[in-house]
Amino acid sequence: MNLIERDRQYLWHPYTQHKTAALPIAIKKGKDALLWDENNKEYIDAIASWWVNPFGHSNVFIADAIYKQLTTLEHVLFGGFTHEPAIVLAEKLMEILPKNQQKLFFSDNGSTAVEVAIKVGLQYFFNKGEKRTTIIAFENAFHGDTFAAMAASGISFYTQAFEGMFIDVVRIPVPTKGHEEESYTALKVVIKSNPCAAFIYEPLVQGAAGMVMYEPETLDILMLICKENNILTIADEVMTGFGKTGKTFATDYLVQKPDMMCLSKALTGGTIPMAITTFTQDLFDAFYDDDINKALFHGHTFTANPTGCAAALASLELLQTNEMQENLTRVNEKHLAFQKKIENHSRVTTTRVLGVIFALEIKTESNESYYGTLRNKLYNFFIANGVILRPVGNIVYILPPYIITNEQLHKIYDVIEDALEKV
Ligand SMILES: Cc1ncc(COP(=O)(O)O)c(C=O)c1O
Repeated sequence: MNLIERDRQYLWHPYTQHKTAALPIAIKKGKDALLWDENNKEYIDAIASWWVNPFGHSNVFIADAIYKQLTTLEHVLFGGFTHEPAIVLAEKLMEILPKNQQKLFFSDNGSTAVEVAIKVGLQYFFNKGEKRTTIIAFENAFHGDTFAAMAASGISFYTQAFEGMFIDVVRIPVPTKGHEEESYTALKVVIKSNPCAAFIYEPLVQGAAGMVMYEPETLDILMLICKENNILTIADEVMTGFGKTGKTFATDYLVQKPDMMCLSKALTGGTIPMAITTFTQDLFDAFYDDDINKALFHGHTFTANPTGCAAALASLELLQTNEMQENLTRVNEKHLAFQKKIENHSRVTTTRVLGVIFALEIKTESNESYYGTLRNKLYNFFIANGVILRPVGNIVYILPPYIITNEQLHKIYDVIEDALEKV
């Protein structure tokens, strides 16, 4: 039996209707921006394996750091114990995070980073004796698949089976061009009519919605409204963090700073699952008490896993090299040039670029669904041409590893242009 047949015997894949989905591709090997399947077919990983991999597959620098850590201290419980990799990682992150972020809490993935932020937001007010139970989120947001993260997410077919079982979340429109006032007004109305604890948002780019973008000035206004009403702000930087938008964090484009930040994905350079939620001192202080009941009773077995911390430290070092910063600029410039070339194509309705993220929307007759026919045709076309792109409905986006070569980028652009003619 080949790998695909063996896979079918026991494995259940994410976001997959196994009855109708195409068979998975068995990947044997990865190097830099390339992946190879079991038949040695080569693919360009144009979406950095769900946005986790900035520095390339099988990165030797990160692998060495992981090996060294694995053979020194692979793991130790973080309840009642600590270790140098977690401490150094915290110190290094403090150098690059907004100055108001003072405490870090480790977990395992983007969803748990969000789960922790929401729980802290709700318990913050509980600890102060205030009953605030509503979370504010954007329409079409995506914050993950655990229960609170799912409640905050607005992509309905991800969550419809669980309606009625969620914490209270109210939604406001995203302040995209032309919808700014609508968004500010909705936020004010929501605040007036609900006991709001926190506002969670994907800063500047809503990834899973199809790289929907909005301006920092508009987010600043929304955050200011929250601040004036003593509502906590949670920047979900799980996708945007560590360079994707051209700055280390999307939050770096803003004047206002959030009360909490959620980090994961590129944190470990796409190697080991790990996440961090960061907090202001004020948030931490609301849990700091003689009363044990005011503590944060949340934890995961692999909290602050030293091997993950070592991978994160190596990743941060890579991110901060001149070479990597130049890569961010280079990829952005290439995207902008491609945008210029393609934006007037008769099948393209809109294009957008921020940092290493490029997106274009293809004209459709009707509302193209998330996993609809056009999406599937495009996906299959890209795969057949050796490029891994996962369109969201009629939106094709690129989010490559930062180390991708110009030649590989051009191949991606060419395949997209080709798709506009043939699919
Ligand atoms: C903004 C954002 N938050 C949270 C998540 C969930 O992360 P994970 O899949 O690691 O649980 C994602 C995943 O794509 C995301 O894009």
